[in-house]
Amino acid sequence: MKFKSQKVAYWFFALSMLLLTLQLVYGFIMGFAHMGYDGLHDFIPFNTARAVHTNLLVVWLLSGFMGAAYYIIPEESEHELVNVKLAYIQLITLAIVGVIAIIGYHFNYWEGRKFLEIPRPLDWLVVANVLTFLGLILATLYKGKKRTTTALVMTMGLVFAALLYLPGMIWFDNQTMDSFFRWWVVHLWVEGVWELIMGGILAYLLIKITGVDREVIEKWLYVIVGLTFISGILGTGHHYYYIGAPRYWLMIGGIFSALEPLAFLGMALFALAMYRKGEKNHPNKLALNWTLGTAIVSFVGAGLLGLAHTLPQVNLYTHGTLVTAMHGHLAFWGAYGMIVLAIISYSMPNMTGRNLYNTVNGSLAFWLSNIGMIGMTVAFGVAGVAQVYLERIMGVEFGDVQKEIQIHFGILIICATMFSVGIGLFIYEFLRYGQPSDEAIIYE
Ligand code: HEM
Ligand code: HEM
Ligand SMILES: [Fe+2]
Repeated sequence: MKFKSQKVAYWFFALSMLLLTLQLVYGFIMGFAHMGYDGLHDFIPFNTARAVHTNLLVVWLLSGFMGAAYYIIPEESEHELVNVKLAYIQLITLAIVGVIAIIGYHFNYWEGRKFLEIPRPLDWLVVANVLTFLGLILATLYKGKKRTTTALVMTMGLVFAALLYLPGMIWFDNQTMDSFFRWWVVHLWVEGVWELIMGGILAYLLIKITGVDREVIEKWLYVIVGLTFISGILGTGHHYYYIGAPRYWLMIGGIFSALEPLAFLGMALFALAMYRKGEKNHPNKLALNWTLGTAIVSFVGAGLLGLAHTLPQVNLYTHGTLVTAMHGHLAFWGAYGMIVLAIISYSMPNMTGRNLYNTVNGSLAFWLSNIGMIGMTVAFGVAGVAQVYLERIMGVEFGDVQKEIQIHFGILIICATMFSVGIGLFIYEFLRYGQPSDEAIIYE
């Protein structure tokens, strides 16, 4: 760590880990409900659990991205964060808005729009919060000595992500119109601008860990940004097939979304190539595992499992089934969950001055969480394919099908337990590091 203000990142990471833990609790509630054990139904019905589970996911990832930006931007731009106090205020208000939203969901204060359940009045608080965050990052970048490609790509991703929140705030009376613009947020986030944030963090980590020249790494970054935009923007069409939008989306959505895996393939090849080329033997092998891991698992979860149901001929049957949940889990985990855990694994020793990497717990955390998540993906996939055949092809009633596939949720829960033990160990190690310290500053 070179700048005092980078320590702010720690608290965003801590909030992130807390929300991740809560997310898993709601995952188990739903897993058991799917098995037929829905004892909490009167207090936490499935729809509430689902909204809480997915919204906590988005907030822990955003908190992780913000922490990553507060850590990376001062270092890349060679300037202290312009206002540390404001960053802490931003952290606390983020937590408060999150808590209000989550409590509200339990009392039916929510909008029934998957992923965008936050009621519109609260959206304005989110906007104020994100503007404060962006103001701090942009001002630091502006005052800094350097503006590296890595920092700019990451910042561009964060700015676009904020702008793309706005289409979700427009009010429509028409379901199709509402759905149409909801996808600008949901799709263009995860298959567009969040990839820039991921690409930026990945480039930063590869520069630090492999020691390969910045010029080489940043050239790759341009290619990835290009591939992302070429495929991802029109790829939005894969959500417009059967919602009442014009027919031409079948063709456009099918073709462009089928190209989207290229950006993820690019990231995987990029990370592996830099690892092979790198001569620096960085001691933090755990950070290296998470960095290469995120590049590879995102290609499988987002790229390959996305491709599996992206053509209109397939999506006609799989839309909104557990096949979507299969892909949603491995994609979110591989691309965005793992990149957050990668930057945490890299930065914790630097912020605290303690070298707890390469511990048995750390490796177990990596392997158990990944193997657990792959198992969960398979369980969702098997349940999803059975659901598609029974419900969509044979015409069996939704509820009857859910009974038939209950058994797969037993496997899901076993794998989710393994995953959660991995996450538990990760958080245990995080806590063992303790708080960041000024003594960890290295002046070069
Ligand atoms: C990291 C990147 C990605 C993440 C985090 C992600 C996550 C998700 C999630 C959570 C959904 C459900 C959304 C909803 O119903 O509101 C979804 C849907 C979908 N995703 Fe992805 N995805 C990613 C990349 C991709 C890619 C690259 C493709 C195509 C190659 C793809 C194809 C699809 C399709 C076709 C659907 C619609 C499923 C349906 O009709 O129910 N995804 N994705
Ligand atoms: C203890 C671990 C977990 C369990 C048991 C679990 C279980 C579930 C269940 C049962 C659903 C609802 C599926 C349905 O609609 O019927 C769900 C939804 C979802 N979960 Fe998890 N989950 C866990 C962890 C995670 C993690 C770590 C992530 C992301 C990194 C995640 C991302 C999602 C997403 C994106 C959805 C919505 C999927 C869709 O749009 O179809 N979950 N989860
Ligand atoms: Fe999409």
